[in-house]
Amino acid sequence: MNKNYEKYFIKPSIKNAAKRTKKRVEIIRKDVVIPDRLKQIAINKTYCVRTFGCQANERDGEIISGILEEIGYKFESNPEKADLVILNTCAVRENAEEKVFGTMGGLKKIKNDNPDFIFGICGCMVQQDDIVEKILKKYPQVDLIFGTHNINNIPALIDNAYFDKARVVEVYSKEGEVYENLPSKRENNLKAWVNIMYGCDKFCTYCIVPYTRGKERSRLMEDILQEVNDLKKSGYKEITLLGQNVNAYGNDLNLGYNFADLLNEVAKTNIDRIRFTTSHPWNFTKEMINAIANNKNIMPYVHLPLQSGDDDILRKMARRYTIKEYVDLYKEIRNKIEGVCITTDIIVGFPGETLEQFENTLKIVDELKYDGAFTFIYSPRSGTPAAKMKDDVSNKEKHERFNRLLDIVNKHALDRNKEYEGKILKVLVEGPSKRNPNIFSGYSENNKLVNFVGNPNMISKIVKVKIKKAKSFTLEGEAIG
Ligand code: 5AD
Ligand code: SF4
Repeated sequence: MNKNYEKYFIKPSIKNAAKRTKKRVEIIRKDVVIPDRLKQIAINKTYCVRTFGCQANERDGEIISGILEEIGYKFESNPEKADLVILNTCAVRENAEEKVFGTMGGLKKIKNDNPDFIFGICGCMVQQDDIVEKILKKYPQVDLIFGTHNINNIPALIDNAYFDKARVVEVYSKEGEVYENLPSKRENNLKAWVNIMYGCDKFCTYCIVPYTRGKERSRLMEDILQEVNDLKKSGYKEITLLGQNVNAYGNDLNLGYNFADLLNEVAKTNIDRIRFTTSHPWNFTKEMINAIANNKNIMPYVHLPLQSGDDDILRKMARRYTIKEYVDLYKEIRNKIEGVCITTDIIVGFPGETLEQFENTLKIVDELKYDGAFTFIYSPRSGTPAAKMKDDVSNKEKHERFNRLLDIVNKHALDRNKEYEGKILKVLVEGPSKRNPNIFSGYSENNKLVNFVGNPNMISKIVKVKIKKAKSFTLEGEAIG
């Protein structure tokens, strides 16, 4: 297709994306509309969706695939063979964006070989004005750009790109809505993501998410429960409740229920395993801790992002808690929830972080002994408040701090894992190892990855595994019946 003119432009604006005016957003229950002529052309065509980034993006990818299948496209895992490729992107750090630009460059060739090929980019990255400008200028192979608020309109966008032979850009920068009833094609038939809310209003100063995903907005509890019940009926064993900050669930609805209530209600569906992510340490309530501790099917695992171990840096990050408050919460979670594992996120080299402030992070990490941690080098995101601060920690210093932190994190991960040697864990078995057909793997209740000697009948079941050996990132063992 020769796209020599550009049409249908609604470009993003990071500035508009920061506005928060609505108290409550609309819940939209309309079916997606598919133009007949698009159904006709999709009949013998294939699609491939590549997703980068977090679980919210994974879930969006499933919905995008669901819409494409409803149009009539068939799944093709190899992007080089597909007629329609969509890259569902992440903007949280610059290296995530570099990966996408690399993939975009790599797909240039197919464009030349298949004139009907449609190449689309969506997700958080294209919510940024400068990225869209860069793609339009430097990547003529891209036909279609749509934002996180435009997924429901994919059929019309593809229709325009195909029949009008135009480059199509539709990226709204707004607070957003809640869409129910969108089709979806789930990636896994054992474990499912369930959105409970969208967006974020925390505006941590380093983070692009509140700008790329809009306002905090919750789904109604009845819609979530319906989805969990349907998943259970279709044989799913585990669900993960998703939100940028699940603690805020319900605040925008004003219906008298909150995240702890939701946890208790979801537990009553009796689905085997319930997980949730992510919890901000700021409004993690005692009721939430009780709900996790008191319901057997809510898994004893909490991801509790620390970000920094220094009060001044936390203030500059606008994280809303002090180290003392964080440590108190952490200890309460450890004390009240039996067998709990706790992991975290930490950023090194935030603007102005001194060596002493970084060492405060090391001290806390050494004291708390996490089960695991995702560690990141600070990456300025244009449009965020931190991007205006002086990024004055040198690259070399950032890497040195990163490596020092990683050593401590890995040491504690191994020590924590060693405590399980000789113990029995319940594992939801996902499948055999690629290298050895007698070794199976799955996650324990507290989210440890376990590789063990078992048999194919165990797949999709929860089995007891005796742990023989601990490594930093995995446990090894043998199924015991
Ligand atoms: N630079 C580095 N890490 C970041 N994160 C979010 N924004 C940035 C940034 N600008 C990290 C935080 C968050 C995780 C998902 O990504 O630690 O918890
Ligand atoms: Fe980003 Fe903070 Fe919101 Fe998490 S809570 S998505 S780090 S702004």
